[in-house]
Amino acid sequence: MQHGHDKYLTASRRVLVVILFLGLSLIVLGGLGFSLIGILRESIGLLEGGQFAARLDQAVERFQWTAIILAAAAAGLAYYAFRLIRIHYERPLKEAGVVIERMSQGDLSQRLPSHWPSGIGDLAAEFNNMAERLQTFTHLSNKMAAGASFEEIFDYIYDSFHQFLPYDRMGVSLIDPEQKTIRAERARSRMSVKLYNGYTLPLSKTSLPKVIESGKPRIINDLQQYLEEHPESESTRLIVEEGMRSSITLPLKVEDRMLGALFFSSRKPNAYDWKHVVFLELAAGSIAPALEKGLLIGDLVLTAIIGFSKLATYRDVETGEHLRRMRRYATALAKEMSTHPPYDEMIDEDFIRDIYYFSPLHDIGKIGIPDRILLKPGRLTPEEFEIMKNHTLIGAQALREAEAEASRLHYSLFKRAIDIAASHHERYDGTGYPLGLKGDEIPLCARIVALADVFDALTSPRPYKPAYSFNEAVKMIVAAKGTHFEPGIVDCFLSALDEFRVIYDAFRESPEPQEAVQLG
Ligand SMILES: [Fe+2]
Ligand SMILES: [Fe+2]
Repeated sequence: MQHGHDKYLTASRRVLVVILFLGLSLIVLGGLGFSLIGILRESIGLLEGGQFAARLDQAVERFQWTAIILAAAAAGLAYYAFRLIRIHYERPLKEAGVVIERMSQGDLSQRLPSHWPSGIGDLAAEFNNMAERLQTFTHLSNKMAAGASFEEIFDYIYDSFHQFLPYDRMGVSLIDPEQKTIRAERARSRMSVKLYNGYTLPLSKTSLPKVIESGKPRIINDLQQYLEEHPESESTRLIVEEGMRSSITLPLKVEDRMLGALFFSSRKPNAYDWKHVVFLELAAGSIAPALEKGLLIGDLVLTAIIGFSKLATYRDVETGEHLRRMRRYATALAKEMSTHPPYDEMIDEDFIRDIYYFSPLHDIGKIGIPDRILLKPGRLTPEEFEIMKNHTLIGAQALREAEAEASRLHYSLFKRAIDIAASHHERYDGTGYPLGLKGDEIPLCARIVALADVFDALTSPRPYKPAYSFNEAVKMIVAAKGTHFEPGIVDCFLSALDEFRVIYDAFRESPEPQEAVQLG
């Protein structure tokens, strides 16, 4: 930094140079004038004396060195002034010209040099900031045009907006116009996130409709005080618990449709001012449509997935209720694990979302199993069981084909779905099927789904067994710790037991059986 500034003069030094330059110019001009007057006077004297030629020679000789020295000094100063002008104005202008020309031809990566002297250097910084914004917004609309997913667009904004406004957390909540609720859709933070994906509030209990209606960004520069004034705001409480102290909310609107809101939050109080409002107002025009398009694509994918999972229920193999419950168990377990090491390093929002979307697809491959085996009321013979095992491979293959289609459109959608379908019958100790994978060899998402699937199977009646009570099922899962299930996952299951109980109570199909039901 410092050497850049040394090369050029600071503003005060420049003023001094100008004064010096003017002073010296005065001396030079004065000296030259004085020499000229001397020569003239001598010449007049000679006219009077009549010895013109001789006296002129004398006079010239007497003043010539003074004149030469003064002329050299004047030339030196003129050169110096010329250099100053070149460094401070001409060169920057030329460089700016090149940059602006390249930018106007579409190369938005061009930036002005940062080493320019103060004054014009500040101007360059402003220009570069503007160019940065332009480039960011262009990237955003390119991503939108290329059909990027909601998550990709969200992540791009999270990664690229740091240069325009300060934040430690970014979250987006979307409005469900039918349910009249707002749902936390995605969040990223430097701290651990407490206000999770899926957190839903009735719109009437938030101040968001007003903010969205106004279309103007809203600043809360002291979240703790805001919470004291609005103790009912659960979402504010969670964000304060995450360590956030101020926030700025950007309402997202496409034409007249309210989409939701984008939140930036900072660990520092008073992090936001009008500059950030102006920036976000400008940005809103690119962000809202980009997110909406991403969401639409997400919806399409979701529709495809729902279609897939329905296939599994058509043949009455798995009830829709089982799929819905085990999805809830698996998601609750994944969320619990995301707060415990070592899983906190491996489980992020994407992971939890994939568990939510794809866990109901675990038995999709049963579509390929013949009816005589699939619908057989009694126990399967060893040969029939071998055929039954193939449902893992069939499901994974079907999803692999779907993934190949998606990847032609540059998406990777079904990676975890493939893992879940392929490996949900693997066991921690390597005694499962189809491959007999052990421990970490089994994809984490499949290890989680396996527990949720078995837990719901245990607590539901099947033709060949009664439903076990909640507590009996818990005991059976714990008994399989280290054999069927990973010990760390069973521990997280026990920490999430309250949540499992809530799901069990809310969604079970028949009254809870007595504990006395025979095990085995
Ligand atoms: Fe299965
Ligand atoms: Fe299942």
